[in-house]
Amino acid sequence: MNNQVKILNGDCGEILRDFKSNTVDLIVTSPPYADRRKNTYGGIHPNKYVDWFIPKSKELLRVLKPTGTFILNIKEKAENGERHTYVIELILALRKQGWLWTEEFIWYKKNSYPGKWPNRFRDSWERLLQFNKSRKFNMYQEEVMKPVGDWANGRLKNLSETDKRRDNAKNGSGFGKNISNWLNRDKVYPNNVLHFATVCYNKDHSAAFPEELPEWFIKLFTKPGDLVLDPFMGSGTTVLVAQKMNRKSIGIDILKEYCDKVLKQIDEMPHTLFKDKTDHEIQTEHNYTIRREEYRKFPSATI
Ligand SMILES: C[S@@+](CC[C@H](N)C(=O)[O-])C[C@H]1O[C@@H](n2cnc3c(N)ncnc32)[C@H](O)[C@@H]1O
Repeated sequence: MNNQVKILNGDCGEILRDFKSNTVDLIVTSPPYADRRKNTYGGIHPNKYVDWFIPKSKELLRVLKPTGTFILNIKEKAENGERHTYVIELILALRKQGWLWTEEFIWYKKNSYPGKWPNRFRDSWERLLQFNKSRKFNMYQEEVMKPVGDWANGRLKNLSETDKRRDNAKNGSGFGKNISNWLNRDKVYPNNVLHFATVCYNKDHSAAFPEELPEWFIKLFTKPGDLVLDPFMGSGTTVLVAQKMNRKSIGIDILKEYCDKVLKQIDEMPHTLFKDKTDHEIQTEHNYTIRREEYRKFPSATI
């Protein structure tokens, strides 16, 4: 079965120690941000954030396959008129730990409403940091191509002579572009700014990310049947999307109430991926038995 799911309750740093090495294809997660939302699940002081995170990322590095990818959604807030630097320090510490900092995607929150503070404007983006274990990782770029759309109507309508031949970079770097290559194409590759609306409806979690976010990275970095992990699961967006997309998934959260809610949602999901009714009933029952035992006893967490 391609879309088994496990929900584990506890501190991810501890739980991950029971995982086998090199088993996970993709980690997509949004940990608690420093000092945020103290009332819901405790804040971590920005000065202590790196020390708090690094033992957990040590386990993430171990369980990720060499071909796998780790996507970390995080954003430093501003306090006393200055941005915290803990995310920058975390990036440096992760590199020291052995991670490659491959890319930084920007999540542009396309539905953020206007606002103004004395010394800044509305925060409308968050970091999606990509880390890898090796330079050769799985990436299925065609899966996230998007309609050529308005860009083609404007940019390709009146091509200049430069546009029609390869436009070599003026600095002699050897890089260049040939825009006319994109004539008559339906789809183009996206760039590293991702336009997703924030979640406005009530997901029973104060920091849920939109379904499109894990969906985009799951498409880009995994195939059906691969294993996706969210060590800070919250309302379970990553695991629920992974399940719909026919990927195996494991979600971990320190708060039991979130684990219970996610399990309930999984129970209510239609299992459309099974071939026939008999198959469905047997597989589902079997899968639930395993899942619930794991949840109660604590894991020997491999799928
Ligand atoms: C920012 S939220 C994740 C939101 C999630 N992306 C979603 O879509 O709902 C972070 C979650 O990490 C959990 N958490 C905090 N410390 C943890 C730890 N040490 N191990 C596992 N989960 C933890 C919190 O309970 C919280 O639900």
